[in-house]
Amino acid sequence: NKGKYEHYMQKEIHEQPESLTTTMRGRLIRGGLCKSKSVLLGGLKDHLKTIRRSRRIVFIGCGTSYNAALAARPILEELSGIPVTMEIASDLLDRQGHMYREDTAVFVSQSGETADTLQALEYAQENGALCVGITNTVGSAIARNTHCGVHLNAGCEIGVASTKAYTSQIVAMAMLALAIGADTISSQERREAIIEGLFDLPGKVKEVLKLDQEMKDLAKLLIAEQSLLVFGRGYNYATALEGALKVKEVALMHSEGILAGEMKHGPLALVDETLPIVVIATRDACFSKQQSVIQQLHARKGRLIVMCTKGDAASVCVGGSCRVIEVPQVEDCLQPVINIVPLQLLAYHLTVLRGHNVDQPRNLAKSVTTQ
Ligand code: UD1
Ligand code: F6R
Repeated sequence: NKGKYEHYMQKEIHEQPESLTTTMRGRLIRGGLCKSKSVLLGGLKDHLKTIRRSRRIVFIGCGTSYNAALAARPILEELSGIPVTMEIASDLLDRQGHMYREDTAVFVSQSGETADTLQALEYAQENGALCVGITNTVGSAIARNTHCGVHLNAGCEIGVASTKAYTSQIVAMAMLALAIGADTISSQERREAIIEGLFDLPGKVKEVLKLDQEMKDLAKLLIAEQSLLVFGRGYNYATALEGALKVKEVALMHSEGILAGEMKHGPLALVDETLPIVVIATRDACFSKQQSVIQQLHARKGRLIVMCTKGDAASVCVGGSCRVIEVPQVEDCLQPVINIVPLQLLAYHLTVLRGHNVDQPRNLAKSVTTQ
């Protein structure tokens, strides 16, 4: 039932304040007098000690689920103090990459049925790793076959393009990071700030959804383009990859997410006055580096669309020649949840304007159960 919406993808994008709320429900504890804020993940509490003792945490997934894990990687690394590595499920299998008994392997999958991820899970089990699932589907193969895990509780996702599951996955993995790091006194303040940030997040998502019309206007400008680049780094490297994935899979427009730190190592050659480029430059530790990226793209006459923190338009838009998307600021590690929303809206409107099937893009299936 699409209710007042025309498409499931549109409904699911606009549902995110609610889906994020249900992902967090009962799992964040504000604490009473003298008690600190904390996170309670029922499915993990008996396994946290083992996870904390592991030598490495390996994230494994495909597509959007992989991107969500990439968005959560920095905060997991920071709060756990354990090295975190990334694996695309098919690539791990192709290489028969090493997995050890001392590894915690985290399998991220909306459907819980993706063939590559499931096979990587079998492979990790055979190699003795502790297997943790992050899934949206209770009773799915990945939920059943992992040792423990966290259900997203984001509600059923029908649109083939994953939207609300992505933001819930990031939040679930941020909570995972908070739970693993909970015994470290030195990061207590940081954790409490993130928990406060999580409480505020649905409200901020509601705010960023107000950009709907602005994104529709931007889509009108981009309707006939061949290609769109998206530059991001740090917490928002994943936002660049995921924004580009949404544009290519539903709007059927070539789009590439680029790690901004790699700009001079190749992508800069593509820049001219015709190719549209989205640069994500919201406030965090990478902000000044992104400002310098914008200047260099500007010097090559790039057609820039800059995503920045509210109030920063003047400081990111050199010479006033670029388009700006202003978003509300949240705790740095949660910013990817906010920043993806305008790009989801952009992909949605581009698709409708270009006359393509939004909920069932050609050649794609919701759940990829074959290899
Ligand atoms: C659970 C209940 C929830 C109830 C809550 C009350 C279920 C599915 N969840 O939620 O309805 O309101 O207690 O305390 O009955 N798991 C995996 N792999 C995965 C995902 C989950 O093994 O990929 C396991 C978990 O380790 C856990 C169980 O499934 O043993 C349920 O997980 P989850 O729903 O996340 O647990 P709670 O949030 O505690
Ligand atoms: C993109 C998309 C796919 C899935 C991928 C993994 O919008 O939906 O990239 O993310 O097929 O699916 P799950 O998460 O079900 O394992």
